[in-house]
Amino acid sequence: MINKVVVIGSINVDSIMHIDNLPKPGETIKMNSFSKAGGGKGANQAVAAARSEAETSFIGRVGDDSNGKLMLKLLKEDHIDTQHITVVPKEDTGQSYILLQKSGQNSIIYQAGANSLVTAEDVDQAQEIIKQSDFIVTEFETPIPAAIAAFKVAHTAQKVTILNPAPAVKEIPKELLKLTDIITPNETESELISGIKITNEDSLKKSAEFYHNLGISGVIITLGSKGSFVSLNGKSEQIPAFKVKAVDTTAAGDTFIGALASELNPNLSNIHDAIVYASKASSLTVQKLGAFPSIPKRESVLK
Ligand code: ATP
Ligand code: RIB
Repeated sequence: MINKVVVIGSINVDSIMHIDNLPKPGETIKMNSFSKAGGGKGANQAVAAARSEAETSFIGRVGDDSNGKLMLKLLKEDHIDTQHITVVPKEDTGQSYILLQKSGQNSIIYQAGANSLVTAEDVDQAQEIIKQSDFIVTEFETPIPAAIAAFKVAHTAQKVTILNPAPAVKEIPKELLKLTDIITPNETESELISGIKITNEDSLKKSAEFYHNLGISGVIITLGSKGSFVSLNGKSEQIPAFKVKAVDTTAAGDTFIGALASELNPNLSNIHDAIVYASKASSLTVQKLGAFPSIPKRESVLK
């Protein structure tokens, strides 16, 4: 079965500065090279879902600039339904500036631009596609009121909601958490939200309990090269990552979520296999440079 996935989220053009190491405060360094790529957490998640063959639609905003045109073109090339992406006059498309170190570690600064203008009204306009979807995915590079509006529609229509609480936000409105079926923080985000530092299996289980007590039935904590931890319906397990050499981890988490939304049965019955698939997809992403250029197609994941 082909899943229908709706992503509400950010669209950015990524400017990637390839450097040896981060400059110290006050230090000036020369970059080794510079590149640009399509990115943004929401857009990466949508591209990952679409390349894993989900029927994917996007709710978001770009500016009326060349970056906006480029991003719409790239999303369409991946067969993503862009009819609910609003072009905002006199506004910049979102941009991220990525400092990519030789180790593969990145530091990201983003300019929200048009992403900050995504509203609950945008979601109202797209109600029908949410009602016809299987999964609705969102993150925090677009405003939370729009996420709440989207999850309300999804919840009433009994569709599965996936919240990627990134970039990290300390105080997530209870209203949003109550409407969330699956939450997917990484270790840092989880610690900020729950106050529980992740050091071992016990702390992972305690963290999951924290989210379950908020009414969230599915918890997936991603652990970078250590894999991920899942807790659902009274069962939990740690699923290892594939052993690869990472050159750029940008969009690893986004690929994981998009691939998961494409592979998971709407009744969540195949959660283990879907996570293994998502881990394989993100292990391919970290072996290539850039966000969009590194996100694999289903055929590569299954190889
Ligand atoms: P990012 O912000 O870099 O996009 P994230 O912090 O949201 O990512 P991570 O926990 O770093 O998410 O990674 C998500 C998944 O990607 C992991 O659960 C793992 O399966 C895979 N992954 C990440 N880094 C590596 C790596 N170095 N080697 C293999 N797999 C990796
Ligand atoms: O998660 C990776 C994404 O976060 C990048 O593509 C960049 O745009 C930042 O927003």
